[in-house]
Amino acid sequence: MSETAMELKQLKKKIGSKEIIKGLDFEIQKGEVFGFIGPNGAGKTTTIRMMVGLMGITEGEVVIQGQSVKSNFKKAIQEVGAIVENPEMYPFMTGMQNLKHFARMTPGITRERIDEVVGLVGMENAIKTKVGRYSLGMRQRLGIAQALLHKPSILILDEPTNGLDPAGIRHIRKYIRRLASEENVAVIISSHLLTEIELMCDRIGIIKNGEMIGFESVNEQDADDDGSRQIAIEAEPSDKAAELLKERHGIDVEMKEGFVAFEASKTFVPQIVTTLVNEEVLVYRVEVSKASVEDKFFDMIGENVIG
Ligand SMILES: Nc1ncnc2c1ncn2[C@@H]1O[C@H](COP(=O)(O)OP(=O)(O)OP(=O)(O)O)[C@@H](O)[C@H]1O
Ligand SMILES: [Mg+2]
Repeated sequence: MSETAMELKQLKKKIGSKEIIKGLDFEIQKGEVFGFIGPNGAGKTTTIRMMVGLMGITEGEVVIQGQSVKSNFKKAIQEVGAIVENPEMYPFMTGMQNLKHFARMTPGITRERIDEVVGLVGMENAIKTKVGRYSLGMRQRLGIAQALLHKPSILILDEPTNGLDPAGIRHIRKYIRRLASEENVAVIISSHLLTEIELMCDRIGIIKNGEMIGFESVNEQDADDDGSRQIAIEAEPSDKAAELLKERHGIDVEMKEGFVAFEASKTFVPQIVTTLVNEEVLVYRVEVSKASVEDKFFDMIGENVIG
């Protein structure tokens, strides 16, 4: 059973006469990693600033664990840990001193909890080093640790991997996946780096000009998704398989490294396999390529230029 962590209801933001956010409506579940993606200026940061109370809501609601950010700000915000813009750290203090400093400002954070978050982001070895000597990636990790101190049920990260090297991105990805699965935290990550979102998220929502223009599950392939995919079948005899595909299904195939390869909709695969099996072709393996988030993104925003 999934449980709603956060709900946006017709959320709008107007600055002057300009409507920047035009009525967002969606939910994020506990344990879900949600990628909030869109081109530069789409409204990601503005939405996040409203979610965490850094900016007033013009119209609509953000509801966190049943509490409205507008009418019950204190209770709602207790459930949130966030990094919006660069996390504030004191460079002359060590990572541990920084965490202790933040812990003092929030009641109920124990020394055990501090050690726990340090472990969660893999900072054990660097926690006694002054933050001024940290690399960008280490600083980001410490920022995440700090945002997690009070055990929020929602973690919101605006462009968390900005400026990180591939290894740094991989680390952050690992911690985020672990948080969602082990602590059942709902994680919202904004980015315009699509490939990284694809690896990290369960679902993405795409925003453009202040409007959500689509949602996509990243890992599961939707049953009604009839986009064209690369399909490769390992079958014996392969020439007979190729003939049958041409005759019965009108599909032209190529032979690639022993596989019969072609393009078709995924929904077509069961019929093709049935044909082969009925004709006593031995089917060893069927591979269907994933539609990449990047393809879906460009399909949806209908342009090839993103930030
Ligand atoms: N204080 C402000 N006054 C006027 N316009 C603003 C203000 N803040 C943001 N905007 C406008 O709102 C729109 C959305 O900006 P926002 O920063 O939310 O985009 P974003 O999706 O986070 O982009 P990026 O990927 O570049 O971070 C932009 O057109 C921006 O110019
Ligand atoms: Mg932004």
